[in-house]
Parts: sequence; structure tokens; C-alpha cells
Amino acid sequence: MFSRLTCLILPLCVSVPTVAGVLDIYKLPDGSTNWQYLANTGAGLLIIGLGSGILFLAMSRRKIRSYADALAKIRDELELRVVERTAKLEVSNQKLGEEVDHHRHTTERLASTEAYIKSIIQSMPYMLIGVDKSGVITQWNQAAQRVSGVDAEGAMGQSLWAVYPQIAIEQGHVERALSTSEPIHIEHAQRGQYYYDITVYPLVGTTDPGVVILVDDVTQRVLAENTLIQKDKMASMGELAAGMAHDINSPLSAILQAVQTVQRRLSPDLEANHKPAQSTGLDLQRLADYVKAREINELLDGVQEAGARTSDIVSNLLEFARSSSHDKQQVDIIDIIENTLELARNIFSLQGGLRFQDIRIERSYPEDLPEVKCYPAEMQQVFLNLFRNANHALQLVDKPDHVPRLKIRVYAMDIMLRIEVEDNGVGMEEDIQQHIFEPFFTDKAFSKGEGSGLGLSVSHFIITEHHDGHIAVTSTPGEGSTFHIQIPCA
Ligand SMILES: Nc1ncnc2c1ncn2[C@@H]1O[C@H](COP(=O)(O)OP(=O)(O)OP(=O)(O)O)[C@@H](O)[C@H]1O
Ligand SMILES: [Mg+2]
Repeated sequence: MFSRLTCLILPLCVSVPTVAGVLDIYKLPDGSTNWQYLANTGAGLLIIGLGSGILFLAMSRRKIRSYADALAKIRDELELRVVERTAKLEVSNQKLGEEVDHHRHTTERLASTEAYIKSIIQSMPYMLIGVDKSGVITQWNQAAQRVSGVDAEGAMGQSLWAVYPQIAIEQGHVERALSTSEPIHIEHAQRGQYYYDITVYPLVGTTDPGVVILVDDVTQRVLAENTLIQKDKMASMGELAAGMAHDINSPLSAILQAVQTVQRRLSPDLEANHKPAQSTGLDLQRLADYVKAREINELLDGVQEAGARTSDIVSNLLEFARSSSHDKQQVDIIDIIENTLELARNIFSLQGGLRFQDIRIERSYPEDLPEVKCYPAEMQQVFLNLFRNANHALQLVDKPDHVPRLKIRVYAMDIMLRIEVEDNGVGMEEDIQQHIFEPFFTDKAFSKGEGSGLGLSVSHFIITEHHDGHIAVTSTPGEGSTFHIQIPCA
């Protein structure tokens, strides 16, 4: 408003020559100024100026009021919006709070589930190993640490086969499980003296594909099964002997009796032979000379001896079958060894090859040997396995002056009883010695029924598991082998 007034008044005041021109009309003819006119004009101008000013002011006021109304309306609208926004924000805040609570709860539950799963994995009795598709370890539980001897820190991030080369699975198994999306089961995978059932589970559909390997040590179960098989074998042998004992013994005694009768009827010394000989024109003395020259009596003695031994075998087998017992018994181990030697003489002399009875047995038994608590039938089984193996190893020796010999030493040391069975057979190389206690390890022809490779593994199981003892071998190739057994006396 002031700027407009200034615009009106300034031209009047500032432009002095113009003002001077305008003032000329207010001059009287005498040159004096007609102040009346000037005053009237000035008053008129002032009134006009004031009027316009008032008009202008009135208009401005109206405008200001309308601006103020508009502003108030905007402010009201803004306030309303702020209230609305604040309400919305409060709802969002509440929702956010709920979300945060929910998230915290979920995180806690996730953490506790993870800890739970971790403790299951850690404490399970099986080896549980996680590997990615290239065999790098991602999971390694306590059983894996215990069996491999490598802790989780040393195993994680390393190649499975670098950390645990003994494991009986290969990269191919991992690849196959992943490509087929099917688990792979490897039953009775064998490493050293241990048996494992292994399952490879593929982890497909995850961001990082891999497999979980579950390794179950079934050594005890397999060995127990093998022991049962051997026991069954022994039991059925005994049953067979028991069943056939009568059938064998009666024709056998008939044979033995007949042989004896033949011997007597060939003899010129028996009075009863003379009459039938005379009636047939036979010279008994010449017949006796012929029998002697052809060693017929020796042959008949041999038949009798073999028959008697057959009878011994049957009764020995019967005793063996009956001797199995469920309880440990206090026994003199030497009785068991001697019984088994007798059994071995009967059994292993019939099979052809080296006869067990032709082996020189050297015994070293102390006088005051304490009795031991053991399962007699099982100990007999162990000694029979050792004697059979020795018999075989001695038979393989190809030296002209070789005298097959078996030394048996028994002695007590502290609370342990020690038994050594030493042969001077073919012996065995270091790499064979390392495996002989493994089930099914044999260098004999299984197809020919020579060996199943179970003898020593079952003996190992009997000594270590059933008698808390130890069994070991020392051997020099070409010189012989010694089996060392140690069991607690009480
Ligand atoms: N005294 C020994 N001398 C040399 N080698 C032996 C001797 N005893 C055992 N062995 C070796 O150990 C292997 C395993 O013996 P083990 O008694 O377990 O099985 P096997 O005799 O072959 O068969 P099985 O006893 O089941 O009839 C034998 O095949 C043989 O190679
Ligand atoms: Mg054997």
C-alpha cells in the first residue's frame, strides 16, 4: 500500500521542473501565485489520494481476511491430516511392536530348536557326517570325533577323505546319492576289525546341496552273529555225531569183531581151524607163511586201529557237543588243552595230508597253575581253531628234514593266565598278520571247504569279549607262528 502511495506522490514532489510547469497555471496575471487555487487543488488531490488510499486499504483488508480464512482452512486441514497420520502411525507402531515381539519369539524358538537338534546330533551314538557335493565336511558329531580321533575344529571345512581316509565310502557314492536323490545303504562295510552299516542321505532342494552320512558300528553284532554261526556249526556237528553214534558204533563193532575173527581163523595156532583146513586140503602153516609174507595181519591190525579211532572220534564229538554251558566254570585250563589235543588227533588225522598225531607236541605246564573261570566249550573251540591252523601251516612246509612241532606253554603272570601256542610251520608275512583276526580273512580255498576265515575272528571274539582277555600273533615267515592268549585267572 505504501509503495503505491509513494508512486503517486513522488512524481509530484521529485520532478521539480515538472512541478514548476504545473505551478504556472496557478499564477495570477501579476505573476503572483494564486494560493487559493493551489490550496484547493492540493486539498482536492489530497482528498483523492486519501480516498484512493482508504479504498485501497479496504480492498487490501478484505483480501487479507480472505487470505487469513484460506490460511485457517489450510491449517485446519493440516491439523486434521496430522491427527489422521498420527492415528495411522500409532496403529503401524503397534503392529510393528507386535511384529518385533513375534520375530523375537520366533528367533528364540529357532535358537532353541537349533540347540535341540545340535544336541541330538552331537549325542547320537552313530557317526553323523555332513559333506557338500565335493566332499567338504559341514557337520561332524562327537561319535565321528571319537572314532576318527579328529575334533570338529580340525574336520570342518576339510575334505572327508583327507580327514578320515578309512571311511568306506567314496566320492562316487556322494555323487550317486545326489543325482538319484535316493539314499544309499552300504551294509557291513569293513575296515580292519570293524564293521559298519553306512547310509548316505542326499540333501536336495537346499541352497547348498550335499549329503548326510550316517555310520553305525555293527562290529559287535556281526561278530556275535559269526560266533553263533560257528556255535551252530559245532552244535550241528555234535548233533550229527549224537544222531549217528549208534548207527556208526554197531556196524563198527561188527567190523572190528569180524576182523578179529578173520585174524583168529587164519592162525595155525587155533585148534578149531585144523579140521576145516584138513577137509579142504589146506596147509595152515603155508597159509600162515603167506599171511606173514603179505603182511595181512598188519593190514588187519590197521583196520582195527582205524575202527577204534573212529569210535573215539564219535565219543569225543559227543562230549564236545555236550560240554557247551551257559555259565562260566572254574576249570584247569590244561585239562581243556589236553582234551582238545585228543579231539584234534581224532579229527585232523582223518583228513589226509599231515596227521595231527604225527606232530610232536612239546608241553610246558607249571605244577601250581591256578584254575581259571571260563566257558570251557568256547575255550576248547579257540584251541581247536589254533591247532587246526597249525596243522595246516605245518603241512605246507616243504623242507626235507622238517619235524613238525607244536609247543604249548602255559604260565601265570600276576592275575593273568598266559597260553602260547607255537608251531614251526610256514609262518606268515607282516601284511597277512595284520588281517588274520578279521572275519572271512583266509588264504585257504573256501570252495574246497578248506577254510571259511572265521576261526581266528571267532577266537578273537571269544577271548576279548567273553573272557576280557587278549589274543595276538607273532610270526616269522618260513620259521613259524606263535599265538599268545591272555585271560584273567578269576
Ligand atoms: N599258525 C598259522 N600259521 C600260518 N598262517 C596262519 C596260522 N594261523 C592262521 N593263519 C592264517 O590266518 C588265516 C585266517 O585263519 P582263520 O583260522 O581265521 O581262518 P581259516 O583257517 O582260513 O578258516 P577257518 O578257520 O574258518 O576254517 C589263515 O587263512 C592263514 O592264512
Ligand atoms: Mg582256521
